[in-house]
Amino acid sequence: MRIVGTGRAHPAKIVPNSEFEKFLDTNDEWIRERTGITERRVISSEQLEELAAEASVKAIEDAGLTAKDIDYIICSNVVNEYITPSLSCLIQGAIGASCAAVDVNAACSGFIYALDMADDRIKSGKAKNVLVVAAEEPTRMVDWSDRSMCVLFGDGAGAVVVAEGDGEYHSRLTTTCKVDCLHYVRRLEPTPHITKDEPSGPMYMNGKEVFKTAVLSSSRDIKQLLDESGLKPSDIKYYVLHQANLRIVEAIANWLKLDMSHFPCNVNYCGNTSSASVPLLLDELARSGKLKRGDKILMSAFGAGFTTGACIVEWVK
Ligand code: UT7
Repeated sequence: MRIVGTGRAHPAKIVPNSEFEKFLDTNDEWIRERTGITERRVISSEQLEELAAEASVKAIEDAGLTAKDIDYIICSNVVNEYITPSLSCLIQGAIGASCAAVDVNAACSGFIYALDMADDRIKSGKAKNVLVVAAEEPTRMVDWSDRSMCVLFGDGAGAVVVAEGDGEYHSRLTTTCKVDCLHYVRRLEPTPHITKDEPSGPMYMNGKEVFKTAVLSSSRDIKQLLDESGLKPSDIKYYVLHQANLRIVEAIANWLKLDMSHFPCNVNYCGNTSSASVPLLLDELARSGKLKRGDKILMSAFGAGFTTGACIVEWVK
């Protein structure tokens, strides 16, 4: 497969670190030094499906196609206001497509899982043009009175259109069930028959544990993909990594013995946008003319589960 179009959409509201100083015992210096974040884009009046549709339309236009040319939609999403219908279904309606649409929840790794499904769909001959969207609003999952959580996240949507192609593609997906480190549980509607305890509350994360797991798992995935494809770390033009914390990206760069010029970042002004972070960054690189035909890009992400996803894609747009 090859990526033939990219798009992104950010919410209008920008929340700088200084905003948190007004209601929490925190400060700009702590947030910047520990995470690399200076501001984040946060949903206020927008619906997530509007951002997802905007990113999708831009990706479809960039591919030189119309919504009618799309024959499958995969959306990576952890939460949005609808439990059902799926977000991909809402996107289908909003952009005027008529194809089948399905959601994937692999937490922050979801975009890479969705891209891999798109590759399968194309390889099997069941689709020609697949729209892959990642749309997330993690700011709605956290407790805004908890300084250790709410400063970390931002919202947004990124999209790509994938079509048949002969570019290089290698992928690696892993899932290891470890619920205690990172989870978000919502209580369902009560019934007269429920007798079990049902916890509910904002997202829980053991930050230190997730940090260590993230560095180790991404490094492992990257090494395996490089070995498998016979590439050296420096053969990769850009490592488009999940943007959870600048220190995680720096640790991986350090381990690969590469300078940060290979590691574009958006965490400084987007915060952690969950599975949207990789396609948001990819669109930024593509639209700023930084990607040239033949460039090899390595995308890697980790998230709740734990899930990890990584792939090497050749830019043949
Ligand atoms: O995409 C999903 C995956 N998520 C991630 O990848 C997140 C991975 N983890 C991290 O990025 C980092 O662990 C955090 C940014 C979440 C935390 O950084 P840390 O260096 O691990 O800090 P910490 O949790 O050990 O906290 C250090 C101190 C604590 O105070 P004490 O106990 O040392 O007195 C915290 O209470 O910093 C305190 N603290 C804060 N202080 C000021 C925590 N949050 C804040 C804050 N402002 N916002």
